[in-house]
Amino acid sequence: MDIRLYLTPLPFERADVNDKTVVVIDVLRSSTSICASLKAGARGVIPTAGPGEAAEMRSKIGPDTTLLAGERDGVKIENFNLGNSPLEFVEDAVRGKYIIITTTNGTAIFSKAGKARLVLSCGLVNVSLTARRAADENRDVMIVCAGEKGGFSIEDTLCGGMLIHLLNTVHKKEVTLSDAGSLALLLYRANKTAIRQSIAQGEHGRYLTSIGFKKDVEFATEVDALPVLPVLKDGRLILESDADITK
Ligand code: MLT
Repeated sequence: MDIRLYLTPLPFERADVNDKTVVVIDVLRSSTSICASLKAGARGVIPTAGPGEAAEMRSKIGPDTTLLAGERDGVKIENFNLGNSPLEFVEDAVRGKYIIITTTNGTAIFSKAGKARLVLSCGLVNVSLTARRAADENRDVMIVCAGEKGGFSIEDTLCGGMLIHLLNTVHKKEVTLSDAGSLALLLYRANKTAIRQSIAQGEHGRYLTSIGFKKDVEFATEVDALPVLPVLKDGRLILESDADITK
């Protein structure tokens, strides 16, 4: 299995995703919020690139069945129903709704990834399930780290490294890695007993804590706390069990 990891989204824009499994990672926080929404009974999560696209999508689908969610600089967008704190996506708020979401780094990646054979949204909260699904699919894998404002982020790289580690050790896949994939694996193996601390001390972890979202960082670093598998289908992230994944 060939695994190519992208430390940032920009080089992924030129990648050929044909017949690949693409895994999009944004541990802090959109991947975690997506899992939280689906676990709490949302019908689906629709990733969009910006607030304008999100609002248009809402008028298209209808305000009764949708909620707008998202952040800029970590803070809820004005006039949106929800921000991007995974703790907001509880049953009372989201059950039965489509969540139309836009975040600074994570959500725009899905429009490019959508052309791949299988697209999964992964955080630490669902990393083991993601590894199992990618292993079962048995195609070459592209792991896209959302990073932070175009740059590298420690939390997404650690999660990507853990995903590779699981594919290799638990699922016994012989993996051929890009150099960035090897780097992520080395980073994970050197930090696997201190994932939460490494992330909390990272740039975005520190920033979120400074604006009052320390609990989000704790929640997002609980490995396998939300065992759901968001799969992209016709532009919507839905639960694997709800999806017809053969295209
Ligand atoms: C992002 O996409 O940049 C993040 O999810 C930002 C955040 O922490 O809300």
